Amino acid sequence: MTSKYKQIVEDIRDQIASGQLATSDKLPSIRQLSKQYACNTDTVQKALMELRHLHLIYPIAKSGYYVLETPEKKIELPLPESDIANLAYEDFKLCLNESLIGRESYLFNYYHQQEGLEELLHEVQKLLIASDVYSKIDQLVITTGTQQALYILSQMTFPNGRAEILLEEPTYPRMIELVKHLKLPYQTIKRDWEGINLKKLEQLFQSGNIKWFYTMPRLHNPLGHSYSSSEKKAIVSLAQRYDVYLIEDDYLVDFDSKHQAPLHYFDTSQHVIYIKSFSAAIFPGLRLATVVLPPLLLKDFLAHKQVMDYDTNLILQKALALYIKNGMFSKNVASLKRQFLANQAQNQKILNANHFQLPYQLLNQQVIVKLPQTLLTKPFTKQLEGMDRLVANQLSHRANLDVIRLKDKKELHHFLTLLESMTPSPLNAKDFAD
Ligand SMILES: Cc1ncc(COP(=O)(O)O)c(C=O)c1O
Repeated sequence: MTSKYKQIVEDIRDQIASGQLATSDKLPSIRQLSKQYACNTDTVQKALMELRHLHLIYPIAKSGYYVLETPEKKIELPLPESDIANLAYEDFKLCLNESLIGRESYLFNYYHQQEGLEELLHEVQKLLIASDVYSKIDQLVITTGTQQALYILSQMTFPNGRAEILLEEPTYPRMIELVKHLKLPYQTIKRDWEGINLKKLEQLFQSGNIKWFYTMPRLHNPLGHSYSSSEKKAIVSLAQRYDVYLIEDDYLVDFDSKHQAPLHYFDTSQHVIYIKSFSAAIFPGLRLATVVLPPLLLKDFLAHKQVMDYDTNLILQKALALYIKNGMFSKNVASLKRQFLANQAQNQKILNANHFQLPYQLLNQQVIVKLPQTLLTKPFTKQLEGMDRLVANQLSHRANLDVIRLKDKKELHHFLTLLESMTPSPLNAKDFAD
């Protein structure tokens, strides 16, 4: 027979789970419960303690017990396929807990430092060195994601006194939103799987209007393309010659199996601003990134940051410092990398088996495919609805590029089935008009 104590715990737990008792509802009083269950008040108290321990209810002094949260009402969002094996969440939770319990004094004794929490800066400096970014600690700033860094940089006056931004086309959609929303003056330069036209880049730099050039030298979003070392050297040397700053968004640095050196490595004249996000290697909700700034820009960058948020969230910074220091970060990156390589090999196998002839790039678990003009017919493109047509990543449609991002195996199979169902087959390389 179930004891009275257990009975009370189970009943209240069921009522919370079924929604009969909702968040912030008041529970019947101890006296009422003891009457209802025909038991003494000690038994009720014990049951309530157990429910408190389970984080289902909480007390308010001189008032009673209230429901903390209705667990079943939490919306369970599906994890993206790539993140299912991601250990980051569980490990990070431990670090977060540790940051709050027993180590909390930093929250109260912290003399604000917009650069970031010192122990995090030290950990980040070590990570950066491992990817060939050599920086003094006082050139590093922790920001609320890449997004905040880009926003601040877009607001700053640069020592070259120029006004225009140069963007690759296509480029990162959030950068497009930024220039459009803030009505920033910009120009674009076409980038595709062959790279960019360095002569054109020189002309633009030479014009004397470009303040900075925003680029993703490694595993570009959306193209998946990386610049070669000689292209990187050429870009850095043009930046130096024409006094143009380069913003290097290295968002996938942790997943580059080729370990290529970044633009920053080739910079000898302090023209490269390097940004590393922690969104891809941990999770996007973390909202932490680091920026490596040329000394000349540091003061103004920090002054802008100070009026925005004073300090980047300290609890998260502390947790990230612990997460890197105790090796969890490297463990997670290694596991994600293995998973991405396995995905790429599987995707390659599927493409080979289908004698796939359209131009494509493998990017982690994604396949990026360039669509030939022959495929850009209404009935076909209608069937691609719901998939990521990357035409949206363009600022102008001059580049005439249409690329699709197949984000997992399910989409790849769907795309291949669509192609197969077409007669005549569009999978003929000569149909591919660039
Ligand atoms: C090009 C690029 N930069 C940066 C990021 C990460 O941005 P944040 O650090 O603001 O999360 C992403 C995420 O997808 C990205 O695609």
